[in-house]
Amino acid sequence: MSAYSFEEAFDMTGKVVLVTGGAGGIGEAIAMAFAARGARLVLVGRSDRVMKLAEALPGAGHLGITADISVRGEPERAMDLVRERCGRLDVLVNNAGISALEWAEKFDDDDWDRIMAVNLSGAFRMARAAFPLLRDSGGGRIVNMASQAATVALEKHVAYCTSKAGMLGMTNVLAAEWAKYGIGVVAISPTVVETELARWAWAGEVGEAMKRKIPMGRFAQPEEIAMAVVYLACGAANMITGANLVIDGGYTVI
Ligand SMILES: NC(=O)c1ccc[n+]([C@@H]2O[C@H](COP(=O)([O-])OP(=O)(O)OC[C@H]3O[C@@H](n4cnc5c(N)ncnc54)[C@H](O)[C@@H]3O)[C@@H](O)[C@H]2O)c1
Repeated sequence: MSAYSFEEAFDMTGKVVLVTGGAGGIGEAIAMAFAARGARLVLVGRSDRVMKLAEALPGAGHLGITADISVRGEPERAMDLVRERCGRLDVLVNNAGISALEWAEKFDDDDWDRIMAVNLSGAFRMARAAFPLLRDSGGGRIVNMASQAATVALEKHVAYCTSKAGMLGMTNVLAAEWAKYGIGVVAISPTVVETELARWAWAGEVGEAMKRKIPMGRFAQPEEIAMAVVYLACGAANMITGANLVIDGGYTVI
């Protein structure tokens, strides 16, 4: 690879990339960005929409797998299908995530368990199940979708903030333990990104107030996150592991 060829460094031809929660929002933008670079996508999500999107992506051989990553055994089943149908895995993007909003003193037990099961346990089990395939690909990458909520407090987000902070801890340990297998593990921490999840959580005045606290004065777009995921997953970023790339328009620096 020529040291200064962006085309070569960002080329994903022949690479298999799995995106959880790939049927909408940021996950869909990530899938589109990888497909544009020639990757073969595996989209994992709870609904049949992953099949439809996999068919609609540019390029051939994309796969949709319906699975609930919060259910024990489902990440392993999904990875068995990847092995069988694709024979390899180069990149895992742990993107699926959920939230519930309530003041901490009133936070519901079921909501807490559900959020931890998807955002944290599901992501860990996906990484653990992906490990042998990523190791065998000779340079696998994991990109964990954390959030600015991992490092700063957001009102009514106690379970969400806790789960995303946990994700950074997990990123550190996996990066340290799996570097010797050639696997790089990183996190991305966006501010509010204009998706379904965000439109619900940040509707009305609460959203306008949030924008006033972001030095850039606006929310991020899904494409701005997707391009960073592609960079962190491609050959140009091979020396980066354990990093948390903050994409927050300056929210956490003030
Ligand atoms: N939108 C934001 O403002 C924002 C900001 C920072 C971080 N994030 C993170 O980015 C990621 C994507 O968020 P988004 O805004 O695109 O949300 P979204 O709700 O549009 O998409 C989340 C996806 O995850 C899937 N999903 C949820 N639970 C699942 C499960 N148990 N098994 C499989 N798939 C499941 C959903 O079906 C959906 O496709 C999340 O991890 C979120 O926490 C979002």
